Amino acid sequence: MLKISKAKKEYKEKIKQYKRYSKKYFEDSAPIISDQDFDLLKKEILDLEKRFDFKDKNSPSKTLGFTPSKNFEKYPHRVKMLSLANAFNEEDLINFEKKILNFLNLNRSFEFEYSAEPKIDGISASLTYNSGKLIRGLSRGNGEEGEDITSNLKTISDIPHYIEHKDFPNDIDIRGEVFIQNTDFEKMKDSFANPRNAASGSLRQKDPEKTSKIPLKFVAYTFGFSSDQSMDKQTNFLIKLKKWGFKTSELNKKITGIKNLLSNHQNIEKKRFELNYDIDGIVYKINDFTLQKRLGFVTNAPRWAIAHKFSASNSVTEILNIDIQVGRTGALTPVAKVKPVNIGGVVVSNATLHNEEEISRKDIRIGDTVKIERAGDVIPHVISVDLSKRKKNSKKFIFPLNCPSCGSKTIKEYNSQTKKHDAVRRCTSEGFKCEKISIEKIKHFVSKDALNIDGFGKKIVQNFWEIGLIKLPHDIFSLNFDRISKLDGWGSLSVNNLKKSIQKSKKISLDKFIFSLGIRHIGQENAKLLSEFLKKKENFFRLKNQSYIEDLINIDGIGDTQINSLKMFFNEKVNLDVISNLSKSLDIQSFKEKNSNGRLKGQVFMFTGKLNNISRAEAKSLIESNGGKIVSNVTKKLDYLVIGEKPTIKKVDLAKKNKIKVINQKTLDEMLN
Ligand code: IVH
Repeated sequence: MLKISKAKKEYKEKIKQYKRYSKKYFEDSAPIISDQDFDLLKKEILDLEKRFDFKDKNSPSKTLGFTPSKNFEKYPHRVKMLSLANAFNEEDLINFEKKILNFLNLNRSFEFEYSAEPKIDGISASLTYNSGKLIRGLSRGNGEEGEDITSNLKTISDIPHYIEHKDFPNDIDIRGEVFIQNTDFEKMKDSFANPRNAASGSLRQKDPEKTSKIPLKFVAYTFGFSSDQSMDKQTNFLIKLKKWGFKTSELNKKITGIKNLLSNHQNIEKKRFELNYDIDGIVYKINDFTLQKRLGFVTNAPRWAIAHKFSASNSVTEILNIDIQVGRTGALTPVAKVKPVNIGGVVVSNATLHNEEEISRKDIRIGDTVKIERAGDVIPHVISVDLSKRKKNSKKFIFPLNCPSCGSKTIKEYNSQTKKHDAVRRCTSEGFKCEKISIEKIKHFVSKDALNIDGFGKKIVQNFWEIGLIKLPHDIFSLNFDRISKLDGWGSLSVNNLKKSIQKSKKISLDKFIFSLGIRHIGQENAKLLSEFLKKKENFFRLKNQSYIEDLINIDGIGDTQINSLKMFFNEKVNLDVISNLSKSLDIQSFKEKNSNGRLKGQVFMFTGKLNNISRAEAKSLIESNGGKIVSNVTKKLDYLVIGEKPTIKKVDLAKKNKIKVINQKTLDEMLN
């Protein structure tokens, strides 16, 4: 019998060898052992992991065989690179259409024309062409700024360096997907879990020479900034892309109506494994650019597009344990630790069980043989239990009634809208009393959409918390770097990089600051609404006075749920300490009015009654894009009350009494042009 301690030593040794060999192979393109020996080494590592449940970040079971360079210059995207919402079935598509029909105030029977494009599972890139010359290529990065990977992108033969076409816009960002074909991936699959990782790793090589040796492909599908605004439809744009010399997908189609989208989805899903590259769904874009423009965006995704994913791959495995994770908002999420299985190129060892109800509904137990499913970037989950394989001595799983982290009472909140208790159980401790909640709050604080501290990942937060370097968000600004530099894995370069990124994160907009606090029900959208209303940090801090919080009900989009959550937040002394400390370290920028030259600049509007031909949501977005503002209460700040059909008389009377101008939709139309 191999002793654990001996096995561990052997395992660590093999990981070290593996790391050295893969670096030689990938970074230096100079393998020092044969492919067979390399495969054998990998298999031995995986066997040890299975037997002893060992883990190591450098293991071949963990995606990349080497870490790509982080030394690319950052460069802002002129137009943000967005992500897409997902749909998994017909119902999701119907809901997607319903929302846009409502937004555009169109009749239910209206049928949209779509551009349906396969969603290649690669890495997106944005190519800037100036007077026909490729001048810059960026990775997506965080959507707002990407990495300058021009030299690497230029090695891809599908990417033209010059375009001489009369109708090629003088200044344009062409966007598309960089990927690797499956047959090419075969040759390098020992070091990457899947083709996507291989493409990403290859694209971010320090040395473009090395990128050029890897047969990357590029398919174009959209544009960011463009000096030519005369294009009418996405499908026509795709035709132009081809004419200009870009590769476009041969599976792109123009399709009208959901029924036809579904049959196209079925056809392509059947064919997907015959293709020489991975696709994980079909992207549907409202074809008409005028409609796209009217629909606009929500935070990070357009309203006018959706990714219809293919059904997931699944696999059978065994539940080794059930962990209860505590999230930032106190939600207790059960997670099954399973015997590692490979599902569609990714090794899965955790699967979410969602919540307490899900466990009891499916009667999921430790030791059970289960089917788990993984779809794209969604967390794998358990779909069913194979009861025929259940062990005789298995016991029902008992969900803890107290928080496993701090021991506090847990509750299922009553939802006054659904008139039901939530399925999720939550830890009731407030502020930073619960260890797990505190750690999650700090992870959120440093994350991409909040302070965006580069290189301050979740593992580092966990580690720093455990050794007492950080307990509260503001501790990040008084870190003991002497101590950090003595920690395992921290060289002077990484310490300096961390210092720099912390320094850089200090300048922050008010909305990101509010979002970073992780207040329940205050996501990115609500944080933006608050910042727009409050304008400067002083007004946010004034919410300490609970009566000011009530005023926020004037913001269209903020309701009782958000108000109550803010009250709870400002009621907690530690939160007040945190924000006061943060305000000393951070340079919180006041809200900048957009469209300050808009024709409705500074004017405040409110609606009552039903509008004609246009939805409230679109009218709001129109007013806002012209510099105006919307509120949902008659106050002194209101300039215009817009009345539609069947207005609330009380509101009209109150407005008149306060000498607020009462206008109809026609007048609003005229004001907007
Ligand atoms: S359009 C405007 N078109 O999907 C919204 N994206 O989840 C996004 N992708 O980052 C760009 N095929 O990497 C668009 N035909 C296609 C696409 C596509 C793949 C990827 C792209 C993007 C991600 C969004």
